[in-house]
Amino acid sequence: MSNYKIALIRGDGIGPEIVGEAVKVMDKVGQVYGHQFSYVDVLMGGCATDAVGKSYPDGTAELCKSCDAVLLGAVGGPRWGSDKPAQQRPETALLAIRKDLGLFTNLRPAAMRKGMEDASPLKRETAQQGFDIMMVRELTGGIYFGKRERYQTEDRGQEATDLMAYSEMEIERIGRKAFELARLRRHKVTSVDKANVLATSRLWREVMHRLAAEYPDVTYEDMLVDNCAMQIVRNPGQFDVVVTENMFGDILSDEASQVTGSIGLLPSASLGASDPGLYEPIHGSAPDIAGQNKANPMATILSVAMMFRYSFGLAAEAQAVEDAVDSVLQSGWHTADIAGDGDKLVGTVEMGRLICDAIR
Ligand SMILES: NC(=O)c1ccc[n+]([C@@H]2O[C@H](COP(=O)([O-])OP(=O)(O)OC[C@H]3O[C@@H](n4cnc5c(N)ncnc54)[C@H](O)[C@@H]3O)[C@@H](O)[C@H]2O)c1
Repeated sequence: MSNYKIALIRGDGIGPEIVGEAVKVMDKVGQVYGHQFSYVDVLMGGCATDAVGKSYPDGTAELCKSCDAVLLGAVGGPRWGSDKPAQQRPETALLAIRKDLGLFTNLRPAAMRKGMEDASPLKRETAQQGFDIMMVRELTGGIYFGKRERYQTEDRGQEATDLMAYSEMEIERIGRKAFELARLRRHKVTSVDKANVLATSRLWREVMHRLAAEYPDVTYEDMLVDNCAMQIVRNPGQFDVVVTENMFGDILSDEASQVTGSIGLLPSASLGASDPGLYEPIHGSAPDIAGQNKANPMATILSVAMMFRYSFGLAAEAQAVEDAVDSVLQSGWHTADIAGDGDKLVGTVEMGRLICDAIR
């Protein structure tokens, strides 16, 4: 029997509802496969602002670091908007935890799940051919973390700059993650850059080529970011692992998530050089449906599957969770966000129960 300690950041809006169902799924996996999962509740987000006056209470990172992995529901909502001081805003907590846990790799799988083809905005035949992309986004470098300036010029009014910088070290560590992941999948890496224009991209490409030589069993290609944006819509089936820098990854991973059909189905993982990794659905706190038993818990439950695979090395357990989600989807039980004509409509709690029942 193995023991795993998991930090739960239930957060705001639908967060507590979807994390509640994910916990039931972990407990079911524990029963079936003989593991012990224990949980530590961590207060973060708007609920923390309400309780202690700041969204990222002192000691949050230390509490998370005392665990083997972190599961986050979602944080944020209109009550803690941009008119509030930074330390009360939930987004401040999200950036702080990524930095404090050193989470430089963001993994977002975007796969066409069977039974979801009609919900995809792609051409029907493209959706039916299927795709399974692992987007690997660099999360702590590039233009989002570079120096920002705004100043007055003599003749052109105000001017602003954002500095985009990458070091070989930053590129190499994310590149390695991508190649190692490809070895667990279909052995292909597409590295996305803008090397025809940007100096950071030319350095990125040089480092990636060096790494590609170290992984001869992995097929490697470069792709310009504008072409990649088109290819995700035209022929997403060509991709396996796609690795790119922070801003390109932000935009491309949202594009890739949309072509799957529902935001309520997409998990993510943020990983550093060591544990704990942080696992969360890609959607937000959905204040419009909070507390109504309407939220789709699948993205959070699929985030648990990623936790099993990438933090605990429990591949069979991860597959069992993914298979359970697929079997429920195919049997036509859907929450409102993905329900179509003729589907059987269920709420958050019923969906959690169906997935638990399908785990073997
Ligand atoms: N990582 C995070 O915690 C995170 C990420 C994104 C947004 N947010 C925050 O969430 C709040 C709401 O943001 P938003 O409305 O732009 O995005 P959102 O993802 O919360 O909601 C967008 C739409 O998708 C629906 N939706 C989202 N998740 C769903 C689910 N599991 N099941 C069914 N429907 C679902 C919502 O009802 C809404 O109509 C904001 O405060 C934002 O800052 C947090």
